Amino acid sequence: MIKPDCYTHIGRVIDSIIQAGLTINSMKMIRFTLNDAVQFYSEHQGKPFFDDLVNFISSDVVVGMELIAENAVAIWRELIGPTNPNTARIDAPRSLRAVFGTEGTHNAVHGSDSPSSAITEISFFFGLKGNPAVLSDC
Ligand code: CMP
Repeated sequence: MIKPDCYTHIGRVIDSIIQAGLTINSMKMIRFTLNDAVQFYSEHQGKPFFDDLVNFISSDVVVGMELIAENAVAIWRELIGPTNPNTARIDAPRSLRAVFGTEGTHNAVHGSDSPSSAITEISFFFGLKGNPAVLSDC
């Protein structure tokens, strides 16, 4: 998932995905409600960064992608780099988080941590309706 701080760089992210040998099977741009973000990141509830994380994720659009390859989860996690962008800039300077991340929760992209969480997260993400408040603002 491309986070709100990185969706304007979607072209460069897609280039990296293709170069890494991944296929994009489906893609969806959506704005999470705060509740969508709380549910998506429920495993982190209670952690000190949780409020910042869910406010950030629901602050603007995100782009979810279903990526296909043998070992897709591992390939994508290698491509995105360490969670903390400052660590990524030292340990994996060409990774997406090193290049597009800022710091802390603002780390440009998310990756499922296992094939089973990928199945859960893809099914949750592609079932979302998005934030209707944005439509009524138009
Ligand atoms: P993500 O891959 O989306 O999974 C959980 C997110 O929580 C993570 O990326 C970061 O955005 C955030 N996160 C995890 N650990 C920390 C931390 N120690 N400090 C701030 N944010 C964190």
